[in-house]
Amino acid sequence: MKLDVTDEKSVNDAIKNIRSDAGRIDVLVNNAGYGLGGALEDVSMNEIRAQFETNVFGLIRVTQAVLPTMREQKSGIIVNISSIGGKMALPYFSPYISTKFAVEGLSESIAYDLEPFGIKVVLIEPGAIKTNFDSGMVMPAKSLDSGSPYFKNMQQVLGLMNSMLQNGSLPDKVAKVVLDAVTSQSPNLRYTAGDDAAFLVQKRKELSDPEFKKFVSEFLSKPSA
Ligand SMILES: NC(=O)c1ccc[n+]([C@@H]2O[C@H](COP(=O)([O-])OP(=O)(O)OC[C@H]3O[C@@H](n4cnc5c(N)ncnc54)[C@H](OP(=O)(O)O)[C@@H]3O)[C@@H](O)[C@H]2O)c1
Repeated sequence: MKLDVTDEKSVNDAIKNIRSDAGRIDVLVNNAGYGLGGALEDVSMNEIRAQFETNVFGLIRVTQAVLPTMREQKSGIIVNISSIGGKMALPYFSPYISTKFAVEGLSESIAYDLEPFGIKVVLIEPGAIKTNFDSGMVMPAKSLDSGSPYFKNMQQVLGLMNSMLQNGSLPDKVAKVVLDAVTSQSPNLRYTAGDDAAFLVQKRKELSDPEFKKFVSEFLSKPSA
């Protein structure tokens, strides 16, 4: 069934069709998303708006369309695919990182609102996963211009990101975490997914802001990076 999260009509039609075919909606997985990279100065407002339109407003649009059904049923679970980038910042991905921080805050907040109606909210925080994410990544033209003052540093980070994604965990690991969450009687609010995710989220928790910044900078300046 076609569903474009940036298109209100497409969302409403799809949810209406599911509702009339199945009579109920038990699980919503908000997975649609892509990465917009680049140093902030090199990214246009339109590119940033489009990034939020899919990763944040799209998630809100589908959630709003599903909520009346789940509320009437007094049950349901909403799974929002965040990222370790919703818990920590990496350089040259500020548009993407800010969408995932938004998803984290939104999810944590609506978990309170929806609890009285028997609706659960879960955040999944994957690390590097081998999907089509790297080929779907949007890099603004200005950020790919070697005249950009950010070009050299950004290229280094981009190279590292691509190699992390290519060596990432298989997506079925994330699917298994989602399945475990939606079949649990009392799911957690947050789950990490993928081989590197728990380690990095734990590091972010343990280290102070300057310590974590040093950890990331050292990691990025490794020769293999
Ligand atoms: N891969 C990673 O390392 C990683 C890590 C952390 C979090 N994530 C998150 O995981 C989620 C899935 O990404 P992925 O890694 O599986 O990347 P992907 O292979 O590029 O898949 C992205 C998915 O989002 C869908 N999508 C994009 N825009 C959409 C729209 N407007 N309406 C409906 N569907 C749309 C795509 O559908 P079409 O193919 O039909 O366009 C595709 O199924 C994203 O939210 C991403 O931020 C990925």
